Amino acid sequence: MLKTNLFLQKNAKAKGYAVPAFNINNLEITKAVINTASKMKSPVILQTSEGAIKYAGMKNLISLAKNAEDENRIPLSLHLDHGQDFDVIRKCIKLGYSSVMFDGSHMEFKDNVKNTKKVVNLAHKKGISVEGELGVLAGIEENIKSKNHIYTDPDQAKEFTLKTGVDTLAIAIGTSHGAYKFSGESKLDIKRLKEIEKKVKTPLVLHGASGVPEELKKKLLGTGLNIGKAKGVSDQEIRKAVKAGITKVNIDTDLRLAFTYGLRNFIKKNNEDFDPRKIMKPAMDEIEKVVEAKIKVLGSNRRY
Ligand code: G3H
Ligand code: 13P
Ligand code: ZN
Repeated sequence: MLKTNLFLQKNAKAKGYAVPAFNINNLEITKAVINTASKMKSPVILQTSEGAIKYAGMKNLISLAKNAEDENRIPLSLHLDHGQDFDVIRKCIKLGYSSVMFDGSHMEFKDNVKNTKKVVNLAHKKGISVEGELGVLAGIEENIKSKNHIYTDPDQAKEFTLKTGVDTLAIAIGTSHGAYKFSGESKLDIKRLKEIEKKVKTPLVLHGASGVPEELKKKLLGTGLNIGKAKGVSDQEIRKAVKAGITKVNIDTDLRLAFTYGLRNFIKKNNEDFDPRKIMKPAMDEIEKVVEAKIKVLGSNRRY
């Protein structure tokens, strides 16, 4: 049976590591993530955005996650990432997700509380855990764009968790979505995180945590991809965040970069093959490398 995020994150909190949450959009990404997590004995969260659901179909994504759990016996959650559409949220709860996020981070505080609480009421009836978000990450989240960060206020975080009853909470401490996170040094507000952790019992989540590994960036530049200014969160900052209490770390961009590199490199060097299975294999191999490195940074290997 799929586990809830709350269950996985509580275990992680007790043992001092973080659970990786990877965004999945298709069979190849899912298989590469699961192969690696299973090989390394790491619990894992597979998360799908509303965009992923539009692309792949909700029932297909549910089947992928349930089959992965069935075949690998791995502590696994299927989570809706950045849920905003109540029809989608209701359907996820009904059809078999084990966790959903309601992202009301761009709303007024009282509207965020009201809507998050509504999702909590729906989800808890089915034993599904809910992730809320307070504070705004700069960058692009699905349909929402924000130029500036609004860091999470520790007192407001306490009030939010008490008023909504959310199981887990995403906070803003300096990360952003996508490949362009910093123009200067990669630095997170760890002091603020520690203050939030002191005031809030709810397990905490870090979005926008891709690292844009330097080596991968160089290789991608070599294939002609224009990502010269891309910069992610350093492994060192992620380790500090986990030590200070983050128990779920979201990664999508690094998987996209790895997949694209595998594909571009293979096609560039190969003028014979046209079998999609051969073309996709290097893309999956590159994803496996990223997943393995991330699991090591989060300390989630050998946990079951
Ligand atoms: O936080 C957003 C994730 O990277 C998902 O992105 O909405 O383009 O699937 P997406
Ligand atoms: P990245 O863009 O840093 O991979 O963040 C992904 C994320 O937060 C998904 O919710
Ligand atoms: Zn996110």
